[in-house]
Amino acid sequence: RNPVIFDSDGGVDDAQALQMLLAGGVVPMAITSVFGNVSLAAATRNLLTVLEVTGHGGVPVYTGAAVPMVQPVIDATHIHGEDGLGGAPRPASIPAPAGDDAVTFLRETFRNSAANGTKTDIIMIGPLTNLALALRLEPAITAGIGRLTIMGATVYGRGNTTPAAEFNICADPEAAAVVFQADIDTIVVPWEPCTTHFISRDAARAMIAAEAPSFVRDFSSALLEHACKTDEFYGGDGKFKYVDPFAIAVYLNPDLVIKTIKASVDVSLALGITRGMTVVDPSGRLGTPMITLVETGDVTQLTAAYKASISYHA
Ligand code: BDR
Ligand code: CA
Repeated sequence: RNPVIFDSDGGVDDAQALQMLLAGGVVPMAITSVFGNVSLAAATRNLLTVLEVTGHGGVPVYTGAAVPMVQPVIDATHIHGEDGLGGAPRPASIPAPAGDDAVTFLRETFRNSAANGTKTDIIMIGPLTNLALALRLEPAITAGIGRLTIMGATVYGRGNTTPAAEFNICADPEAAAVVFQADIDTIVVPWEPCTTHFISRDAARAMIAAEAPSFVRDFSSALLEHACKTDEFYGGDGKFKYVDPFAIAVYLNPDLVIKTIKASVDVSLALGITRGMTVVDPSGRLGTPMITLVETGDVTQLTAAYKASISYHA
């Protein structure tokens, strides 16, 4: 496996995703934070919190972009809570960030990989701003990027933030356009399959209840309850949907993917009702590189990865 960077906007399912990655035996070489679900400061604090809760306080966290490339900030505190973790319990103290310039960190890491003839992977489960800025400043870093795994975008134009756009793209459409136009080995878990890959709240509760009492178990329980409650509040059925953790499960075990589409992808930057919408063309007419989009995965394996994460501690 290549070394991997975990880039995230520190929301509820981002926390679950990081727990899943660590529980799957993959310790990221670094975490880069980005504005998105909550402010950059809150996102950074949340990612440091998960590291502390899981016993991985030594992983360096670099703070990244606080704002999108062009447009004003939108957030999703109505979904993830004011703190971004739905009020989950916090450890007494958390480590400090290792640095405040994630974009430089990305450039140096990918540049070094390219120079050494190696690759570094990156998982992105928030707005794509940090990588887009790095690519704009230093396009040659693509040579050092291994696999890019993204949670974001829509395939069929059914968005969650606007009728047409998914949050991670909608929060910084210009950044997403830069990333989809770059020549990188990319796999995307789009929004639509996230709504059809789930377990019932009762089944998730039962899994957590079966674990021995621990801080991390209570932390996982709070995240689960918040995710299900919010889903219900916004008209869903209260099931636990795999969103950011879906991307992690795919990264850990590509074999759980059942069906994919190969397509060129670009982003509508027009002002109006399509802004942030991804246009997905299996015929490749957009001229952007062909990438892989997940349509279906094995829910049993997703649930196994989630189960492994709920009480994981190093
Ligand atoms: C994405 O946006 C955020 O709310 C989630 O963390 C996920 O990354 C879903 O659209
Ligand atoms: Ca996210």
